[in-house]
Amino acid sequence: MSGIHIAYDLSFAHTEGRWARAGSWIGQEFPDVRMYAELARTAERAGVDMLFFGDGSGIPNTWRGSMDAAVEWGIQWPRHDMAPVIAAMSTATEHIGFGLTYSSTFMHPFTVARLLNSLDHVTNGRIAFNVVASTRGADAENYGSAELMDHDLRYERMEEFIAVCRALWDSVSPDAIVRDRTTGRFADPAGVHPIDHEGRFFRVRGPLASVPSPQVHPVVVQAGNSPRGITASASFADLVFGFGGGVAGQRRHRAMLDDALRAQGRDPASVGILWATQVIVGRTRREATTRRDEVLRAWDHEAVGAFLSHNAGYDFSTLPTTFRLGELQDAIVAAQASPGGLVGTLVAEHGADHTMTRDEFFDHGWASATGLDHTLLGDPAEVADALEENHATTGARGGYMLSTPLGMPSGFAELSELLVPELRARGALAPRYPGRTLRENLAV
Ligand SMILES: Cc1cc2nc3c(=O)[nH]c(=O)nc-3n(C[C@H](O)[C@H](O)[C@H](O)COP(=O)(O)O)c2cc1C
Repeated sequence: MSGIHIAYDLSFAHTEGRWARAGSWIGQEFPDVRMYAELARTAERAGVDMLFFGDGSGIPNTWRGSMDAAVEWGIQWPRHDMAPVIAAMSTATEHIGFGLTYSSTFMHPFTVARLLNSLDHVTNGRIAFNVVASTRGADAENYGSAELMDHDLRYERMEEFIAVCRALWDSVSPDAIVRDRTTGRFADPAGVHPIDHEGRFFRVRGPLASVPSPQVHPVVVQAGNSPRGITASASFADLVFGFGGGVAGQRRHRAMLDDALRAQGRDPASVGILWATQVIVGRTRREATTRRDEVLRAWDHEAVGAFLSHNAGYDFSTLPTTFRLGELQDAIVAAQASPGGLVGTLVAEHGADHTMTRDEFFDHGWASATGLDHTLLGDPAEVADALEENHATTGARGGYMLSTPLGMPSGFAELSELLVPELRARGALAPRYPGRTLRENLAV
């Protein structure tokens, strides 16, 4: 069994009310870069492998057909491009890695390959690219389309996107850079090649006008968990980001990924999954429970609606008093959103023919939006026990993308001060920064 890798999911560390909760910074507000530098230093002291930023470019506007609730309650907004923040965090640290998200549906691979090459230089080989297909209408509207591209076609585009990025990263051979001070000869033209890519979605001549970066290929992470999303992961991902919190779903995901990897001729042991797992840790279980209750109190009904509707691409304010789960699922799939998510989970649990009331749905929705339906809660030993057990039963390859609904920075600081040291003392974690690059440290 390989040791557990730990990443922190900072995607929403400043939203959904975390900025106001007990233990949040006073006098420093998002996006103050000093907050992130401090967080990176404390996480590195604990030996955390990676700090990770998901992304979305649109303000949630599906609930009631308006962005007002999301704006009012700070739901999944504001969100900045975190590339410069990662650059700043990397100068405050030496070992910890950084994950950055861009959408293959909206971006162009030349821009992204070039930016990641630069970030790999600035971080000295510590950057990972989380490539997402994007499911949210508000994001699509910012890139010229009111409609989302067909779900499976998005993955076809993603596969081509990554192939172009990798060809560009290989287009300048590390040996080609000569830098001969006596002759003034900079590079050997024989090691610099156009890629002449002409595919269904992109035409890119290349080469990348850059010097190869320390990792040459930044680590590539992929999160889609539909059957098509898993096939895409198997075809190119170094590491997968999966939904955690439910052993049955995790096992299903692991088994599907293993089959898909074998079909691609790849070794299932070589691709780990980092499970998205929310944690509320306290010095005692009682302290953790009090903190959970504080989180529950902080959510408004409108905020829950905005959060859920954005993720599902469906305006849940229009739900009738009773409805069949399968009908709701069909409407979500027809809008090209993900078949997974809350409604997919409810269908898997209760069956498509189950009739649900609006109030029941919002009870589930409340647990889903707050993340409390997939939260590990307790003192450090209890949470560490649960993580160790989950790791063993879900394939023991990868680890956890931990998030916390508590105030920032205290929520993450306590993971670094209470939970990660507990796991390390037990010998449950992968070695602390054994290599120079993120790729070496994650062993991918
Ligand atoms: C754990 C997890 C994290 C994700 N993070 C992001 C993200 O940060 N930004 C984004 O646009 N999509 C994100 N997604 C959405 C996926 O990229 C994908 O578009 C979505 O899951 C729909 O694809 P699927 O039907 O294959 O699951 C995430 C998905 C999962 C499962």
